[in-house]
Amino acid sequence: MSEGELVIPVPQEWASRAKMNAAAYEAAVQRVEADPEGYWTELAQRLDWIKFPTKIKDVSFNREDFHIRWYEDGILNVSVNCLDRHLAERGDQTAIIWESDDPHIHTFMTYRELHAEVCRMANVLKAKGVKKGDRVTIYLPMIPQAAVAMLACARIGAVHSVVFGGFSPDSLAGRIQDCDSKIVITADEGLRGGRVVPLKANVDEALKECPGVTDVIVVRRTKAEVNMVPGRDAYYGDLKQGVSDQCDPEPMNAEDPLFILYTSGSTGKPKGVLHTTGGYLVWASWTHEVVFDYRPGEVFWCTADIGWVTGHSYVVYGPLANAATTVIFEGVPNYPTNSRFWEVVDTHKVEIFYTAPTAIRALMRDGDEPVKKTSRKSIRLLGTVGEPINPEAWLWYYKVVGEERCPIVDTWWQTETGACLISPLPGCTPLKPGSATRPLPGVKCQLVDADGKVLDGATSGNLCLTDSWPGQMRTVYGDHERFISTYFTTYPGKYFTGDGARRDADGYYWITGRVDDVINVSGHRLGTAEIESALVGHEAVAEAAVVGFPHDIKGQGIYAFVTLKADVAPSDILQADLKGWVRREIGPFAAPEAVQFAAGLPKTRSGKIMRRILRKIAENDTSNLGDTSTLADPAVVDDLVQNRVG
Ligand code: WTA
Repeated sequence: MSEGELVIPVPQEWASRAKMNAAAYEAAVQRVEADPEGYWTELAQRLDWIKFPTKIKDVSFNREDFHIRWYEDGILNVSVNCLDRHLAERGDQTAIIWESDDPHIHTFMTYRELHAEVCRMANVLKAKGVKKGDRVTIYLPMIPQAAVAMLACARIGAVHSVVFGGFSPDSLAGRIQDCDSKIVITADEGLRGGRVVPLKANVDEALKECPGVTDVIVVRRTKAEVNMVPGRDAYYGDLKQGVSDQCDPEPMNAEDPLFILYTSGSTGKPKGVLHTTGGYLVWASWTHEVVFDYRPGEVFWCTADIGWVTGHSYVVYGPLANAATTVIFEGVPNYPTNSRFWEVVDTHKVEIFYTAPTAIRALMRDGDEPVKKTSRKSIRLLGTVGEPINPEAWLWYYKVVGEERCPIVDTWWQTETGACLISPLPGCTPLKPGSATRPLPGVKCQLVDADGKVLDGATSGNLCLTDSWPGQMRTVYGDHERFISTYFTTYPGKYFTGDGARRDADGYYWITGRVDDVINVSGHRLGTAEIESALVGHEAVAEAAVVGFPHDIKGQGIYAFVTLKADVAPSDILQADLKGWVRREIGPFAAPEAVQFAAGLPKTRSGKIMRRILRKIAENDTSNLGDTSTLADPAVVDDLVQNRVG
């Protein structure tokens, strides 16, 4: 460790308690090099298989014979691993603690009850004709039925596609169409921070563009009166009357699809990231155990929404595979007060708490008092995910929330990676605030420069993975070529993450953020192309260019440059209208912070927008705009600088 650098050593109690201590980590790193087959076979033994695999790993990242297969002749069922196998010993243990938006309401569901409910929902889906391989879209708030619906799909071999409840009808429609779901599971309404989310109304709107949907299953959350289309819509409560609470699990091949989750890239519409059954569950459950040093029965709370990958892997699949008590939280960190997180921790004696830097920064702004008035003594370990955490926020989380008792695991990963790849291990890794530290055993990170030259030692570059891990996505749903060209052609033969990173002299990684046209707003991933395409859909807009800029709380904010059609006059009303338009087109979290009207956009002579310049203007760093001589019309830059907003 270099001199003067802040390094927090592994606490003694963690070094002695943790299964993955320093010696175990070194042993695993060496083992996976010396005997990969043996190492990956042992990892698979953590699951219950109907047929244990004999073929362990078969991977090529080269275009000529590209394929990724893990445990390919193994047979198993994910819901059995998350439910049935715990029943004998832990049937009466709480599986799900549900904390509603209203701080006075929470419910508990045991493994036995969850098993019965999953079987019922599985039988309801079967009665609707859903079969192995069919896609089911889930558009639910954070209620236990969201986990139930996912596991019910897994039980019968249906492929779920969960769409975050904050997405607009239009975004929902695109996702239903892309994977051709015939069934949508939703709720009458959601409730977040005291505000109603009109989920069923959004579904109705979306389905105007989705004639293929035959059935909508509606869970009653608020019991509001909602429109029900006869023959298409039915309440889940009615459908499950008299339905058996037993359902035979479908035997699934390890490489059968488990779920699709849409995520934004730098170009085009969102991609359906496809994860499969065996490798995904091995990786989600193993990382949940080692990264959080998890023991069955401990209360684990990941605050992410089930609509994002973090919710899939660390609210549902990882914890339940490990017989956890997992918390599903419907609300937001600052409702009814900004002590809410810590009050929930105290109420349910949460031991491991995992959240996003944006929430930490927002709470930090409100000072220490709302934290300090709660006990938090149940917490042993803290985690973060989703975006880089600045050392200041890290230290506040460490000192104020964790009282310098609790290690912080800053976990780096992506929708595409299924679960964590770079993270400290609490009983093994000395921590440096702001660093995701080292790759997990078996994860092969590499930094390369723009030309693909491999960079060694302490350096900065583009983060690649040179080999596969079991939880890697297998394809983009319906577009395998897009999978290969998006991830494996920038640097042929390697998976390119889209992230930049620095590696220090200790081999620690410091993720610096996306190097492509993806922006990360409050941990929500958005493609600039998506927002631009929403903007040009507005009748007043001729052209739009969107960039991210540093934002104190959200990590990044959205800055849009818009040129208007010839007959349209710029106005404050139009500016507000465009923000609202993006909200409605994509979802509230995608609304631009700033909209600047521009007479023209900076383009090269070949017509390419020079985003580098736009980024500098958005960041208000206009003293050095770099070389503008290649612009078709250098004068537009002065105009943009002068009319900067915010
Ligand atoms: C960013 C979320 C820094 C990164 C699990 C990545 C992070 C993108 C971290 C994936 C972290 C995630 N430190 N950056 N600990 N974790 N990211 O697909 O840019 O929603 O590429 O998956 O979030 O976002 P996604």
